[in-house]
Amino acid sequence: MQTMPDNYRIRKVAVDDEQLRPLIDLHHECLPSRQHAAPEQKAGFLAEVRDALRGREALVLAVFDADRVVAYKVAYRTGNRHEILYSWLGGVHPHHRRRGLARALIRAQHAWALESGLTHVETQTWGDNAGMLMLNLQEGFSIVGATSGPDRPGVRVILRKTLSAPTLPR
Ligand SMILES: CC(C)(COP(=O)(O)OP(=O)(O)OC[C@H]1O[C@@H](n2cnc3c(N)ncnc32)[C@H](O)[C@@H]1OP(=O)(O)O)[C@@H](O)C(=O)NCCC(=O)NCCS
Repeated sequence: MQTMPDNYRIRKVAVDDEQLRPLIDLHHECLPSRQHAAPEQKAGFLAEVRDALRGREALVLAVFDADRVVAYKVAYRTGNRHEILYSWLGGVHPHHRRRGLARALIRAQHAWALESGLTHVETQTWGDNAGMLMLNLQEGFSIVGATSGPDRPGVRVILRKTLSAPTLPR
């Protein structure tokens, strides 16, 4: 198993346009379907992410190589009792893959969730994304369902990991 090399640093990123913009640019470099997005599409997605995270307890983590963002993971707290961390977006720059960055981000995210008293982490991955599915399963997620989206064909696999048993009122 690859451990993240020492030159990389994980940092928490604030939910504001200045700090989110490099992550959104990276998101478009990571996903083949978004590589040719127009500047206005990128700006629209930045606004969508910022607006979705504002008013929620969010955890935005990024991996830096010196001062350059090379990986990111975006999550927010949800659930009827605010007990679930929903891991929404994530990616690693193509030149920095298979060095353990995604695994290090997942572990940092789950450690934060556990410390914050959350009991579960949920995420969704396209059924053809073998790397992300493998990594999620290796890091303790189970497949709990599947759905489809209107935006593209294929199956979105729903995954959940239990961090700790909920404390039930007596
Ligand atoms: C999926 C992704 C985040 C993995 O990032 P990464 O930093 O390369 O992953 P890691 O180095 O931490 O890999 C951890 C493990 O995941 C699995 N894995 C990662 N990429 C894989 C691939 N392409 N094929 C098969 N397994 C893969 C392996 O088991 C790997 O462990 P190993 O290298 O010891 O064999 C990255 O490929 C990516 O950004 N893809 C495009 C965006 C994306 O799919 N985001 C997720 C949307 S849900």
